[in-house]
Amino acid sequence: MTDRAFTASSVRMRRLRSSEALRRLVRETRLHPAQFIWPLFVRSGTGLRAPIGSMPGVSQTSVDELLRDAERAVAAGIGGILLFGIPDTKDATGSSAWDPQGPVPSAVRAVKQAFPDLLVITDVCMCEYTDHGHCGLLTPNGDVDNDATLDLLAREALAHAEAGADIIAPSDMMDHRVAYLRQALDKAGHTQVPIMSYAAKYASAFYGPFREAAESTPAFGDRRSYQMDPANGLEALREVRLDIEEGADIVMVKPAGAYLDVIAAVKRETGLPLAAYQVSGEYSMIKAAAERGWVDGDRAMMESLVAIARAGADMIITYFALDAAAHLARR
Ligand code: PBG
Repeated sequence: MTDRAFTASSVRMRRLRSSEALRRLVRETRLHPAQFIWPLFVRSGTGLRAPIGSMPGVSQTSVDELLRDAERAVAAGIGGILLFGIPDTKDATGSSAWDPQGPVPSAVRAVKQAFPDLLVITDVCMCEYTDHGHCGLLTPNGDVDNDATLDLLAREALAHAEAGADIIAPSDMMDHRVAYLRQALDKAGHTQVPIMSYAAKYASAFYGPFREAAESTPAFGDRRSYQMDPANGLEALREVRLDIEEGADIVMVKPAGAYLDVIAAVKRETGLPLAAYQVSGEYSMIKAAAERGWVDGDRAMMESLVAIARAGADMIITYFALDAAAHLARR
């Protein structure tokens, strides 16, 4: 028999783990559907629901089909939806980005009319709209021209705000774009439209599946001259501080799972509402492993989400939003 006299202390960490009731009582992090934001891909047409091969369960839809998803989001109590547009035509300046009849403004109008209380966030970036797939205007030698891009982003943001978007979310990583967009929105009377800035957005391999979904793979080169180096953490804090100074209302860290330290540091240092984006690759890796029976998909989904919340994210942008909300409702 084990001699219990050796016990150095009467503390037993297992006591509070001995039943689900106790575990639930002492749980430090709780997930709620209201903190999930669901990204959706919209394009022109009717009756369209085109599955994205690299993202099982995710589709591009036309506006009428998107309304069905919006209805599901409302029923599940999800915090909001985040819209990405796939335009009919692309050109060097991405001019369809500010077309008021384009997929995103059309979807915003339709969703706000049908479900006025559903929060609609729009992605503001040029990469889905340019024929070269970069996030801004190019100079003759193929660099992304930061300052010339700002005006295009402002036109896009205004088209979204005019359509009724509740939040504008610039994901381009141009310098000074938060200040520029804030001024443009204010001048047009949209002083109450918040900016959720992709403040610390890394040049990540985990965006791979999204580029099929949004048809935004760069035709040449990569995004490393504007998105952050995955090796840098302190730089993320500088990015975040600058965006706050420029007027960001909500800041974002992206991707999420491989950047939990950055999420924790940003939350500690700023105290601002903090979003984290669990990106396409994070989603698809879990889906693929679950399809093969290598991990329990539901558990991996919930564990990945609770980790992001535990690190400090107040809201999580995730393709799992609907599934995770359903999972929470079952318990
Ligand atoms: C557009 C944008 C990207 C993502 C969100 N907005 C792609 C990129 O920067 O290449 C990635 C989202 C995801 O992978 O789920 N700039």
